[in-house]
Amino acid sequence: MNLEELSSLTQHALSDLSAADSVDRLEEVRISYLGRNGKLPEIMAGLKHVSPEDRPAFGKAANEFKLQVTQALKDRKDHLLSSAIPADALDVTLPGNTGFRGGNHPIRQIMLRVIDVFDRIGFTVATGPDVETVFNNFDALNTPADHPSRDEQDTFYLSDGTLLRTQTSPIQIRYMLENPPPVRIIAPGRAYRRDTPDATHSANFHQVEGLYVAHKVSMADLKGDLTHFAREILGKKTKIRFRPHFFPFTEPSVEVDFTCHVCKGKGCRVCKNSGWIEIAGAGMVDPKVYEAVGYDPDSTTGYAFGMGLERIAMILLEIDDIRRLYENDARFLRQFA
Ligand code: PHE
Repeated sequence: MNLEELSSLTQHALSDLSAADSVDRLEEVRISYLGRNGKLPEIMAGLKHVSPEDRPAFGKAANEFKLQVTQALKDRKDHLLSSAIPADALDVTLPGNTGFRGGNHPIRQIMLRVIDVFDRIGFTVATGPDVETVFNNFDALNTPADHPSRDEQDTFYLSDGTLLRTQTSPIQIRYMLENPPPVRIIAPGRAYRRDTPDATHSANFHQVEGLYVAHKVSMADLKGDLTHFAREILGKKTKIRFRPHFFPFTEPSVEVDFTCHVCKGKGCRVCKNSGWIEIAGAGMVDPKVYEAVGYDPDSTTGYAFGMGLERIAMILLEIDDIRRLYENDARFLRQFA
């Protein structure tokens, strides 16, 4: 190696060092130049082949090589360490970059909550098909032949004379046809009506049906159980009230209101200033229904109720338009997952 080669080696070493972008890489470069099998021992070993008159200059240059590389190494290392992110610059409380994991749809969430409340007081889940017979959906539920809900303008009929159930009440019929009393079921499912979709109507929606049939079941049981439900779902202080109503399959029939969970009954925008929110339809099962399913109408008593899950979801989750529940816009659904 001559002086010229040594000076170009020095340039190489310096440019390798300034290109090292990590402390580990820097160490590799150090070893390759200053290490035991590196360039420096090679230079020193070559010293004895240099002619005596050139030796002092070469020796000086070799020394210079070592000093320069050592200094550059130290400078580069200081630079790398000082520009690294200091430990206290990392905010571990910032949310991480996890992907969206999915979750239950709001309707399903509410359905599971309703089921859970009744499950804990002894109700079991019953289900039935969306396509029903006219018997299960209307006849057995004591709906007169000329009742407007049977109209083709309200009900989706299929070509074989079946229909898309307009309520979850046919599940009651199915269950009672197959099981003797006592009955205590909670029956969630889809229902279909020929409604024109708007902010509060959908042609396909969800209901939960409740049915408790035994002996000496009374209106007080209905009120007690629905009060329990109201408190579980809307809060401990929630009250309920019954308003007289009509359903073909219950007598007497009521509509059930819960005190508004937002204003606690004082009146606000959510309850349209009434202090009450209509939640369910209910009543004592009409003896005609017992006749239709082969129960003894004289010794059997029971209550039934039904409520719309969309309505409860919209109230609890403050959703302003029912259509948002069916558009499957991930940005919307993600808020509730
Ligand atoms: N099926 C009724 C409806 O869809 C609700 C209801 C169920 C009323 C059970 C009374 C008893 O409006």
